[in-house]
Amino acid sequence: MKTAITELFGIQHPIIQGGMHFVGFAELASAVSNAGGLGIITGLTQKTPELLAKEIARCRDMTDKPFGVNLTFLPTFAKPPYPEYIAAIKEGGVKAVETAGRSPEEYMPALKAAGIKVIHKCTSVRHSLKAEKIGCDAVSVDGFECGGHPGEDDVPNMILLPRAADELKIPFVASGGMADARSLVAALAMGASGMNMGTRFMATKEAPIHDNVKQALVKATELDTRLIMRALRNTERVLRNDAVDRLVEIEKAKGKDLKIDDIMDQVAGVYPKVMIDGDMDAGAWSCGMMVGLINDIPTVKELIDRIMRDAERIIRGRLTGFLDGNIAVDARVA
Ligand SMILES: Cc1cc2nc3c(=O)[nH]c(=O)nc-3n(C[C@H](O)[C@H](O)[C@H](O)COP(=O)(O)O)c2cc1C
Repeated sequence: MKTAITELFGIQHPIIQGGMHFVGFAELASAVSNAGGLGIITGLTQKTPELLAKEIARCRDMTDKPFGVNLTFLPTFAKPPYPEYIAAIKEGGVKAVETAGRSPEEYMPALKAAGIKVIHKCTSVRHSLKAEKIGCDAVSVDGFECGGHPGEDDVPNMILLPRAADELKIPFVASGGMADARSLVAALAMGASGMNMGTRFMATKEAPIHDNVKQALVKATELDTRLIMRALRNTERVLRNDAVDRLVEIEKAKGKDLKIDDIMDQVAGVYPKVMIDGDMDAGAWSCGMMVGLINDIPTVKELIDRIMRDAERIIRGRLTGFLDGNIAVDARVA
């Protein structure tokens, strides 16, 4: 399949693996790229630009295909040394960067001068248009369903994607709630040129995270995520667990007066405890609603091959079948 996104990033399939804290290491990024998608290393999981340079080199040893780096612009007190991270990306020969969190405007000149393609993750049409205006090459349109930070507008992809298609000139991928071939075909139908998946890629053999996390993803349903930190205007969709239940109780009690300090125990330093140690109640960690569609733990290649094979079947069989008046296709799932 060829789309504006496969051409932009020089990849075989229009599937991107979004940056994920303590998940997006070289093992996963290279597996996605080797399977024909665009794998992404999570920049800030590497504590220093030097460590990111090493992770890029490790990924380069594992794949000769294009891969990218995620740069998340966080509302942190101590600002990470972004120019040095960008230098590590440039020197590592990486040609794709996924930005998120805030507008990458300040860093666009450096990224563009290095010949890097920038895909900015946005949760609204207005932010997508801003990204287009400042020279981003593409947008990842992240709907309300997504794992991580869905923003504060609560617009699901069924609305957000066609709205983005109506307004944007640059290509975009659908992000949030994307799970399988049905998601990909639907996203393409709504104007996207591909899809970005986060949560789904965690439940793969190559994801370098504790097996407890993968088993929890298989077990969970679409009813098991919670939104936290709304009162702080830093909403995050996470998988429900004991710590999240406690956090939600604190939020209810504090209401509008909630301060980040009130929930520090449930949100600080959680990722290594969950992803490395497998301590499932350590605190809140991002997870999308599409978790209800995860039923297995395939290899990344099995997952991507299955998506592309089923997408062709849906388009050529089910959809064309309807046009041809073949009602029998309605009984087929994919
Ligand atoms: C465990 C986890 C950690 C994430 N960490 C980051 C991050 O550090 N930076 C970022 O831009 N997005 C992060 N995301 C968001 C993903 O890149 C992606 O946009 C999102 O997962 C898409 O929604 P989905 O989970 O429904 O596929 C994270 C998502 C998950 C599930």
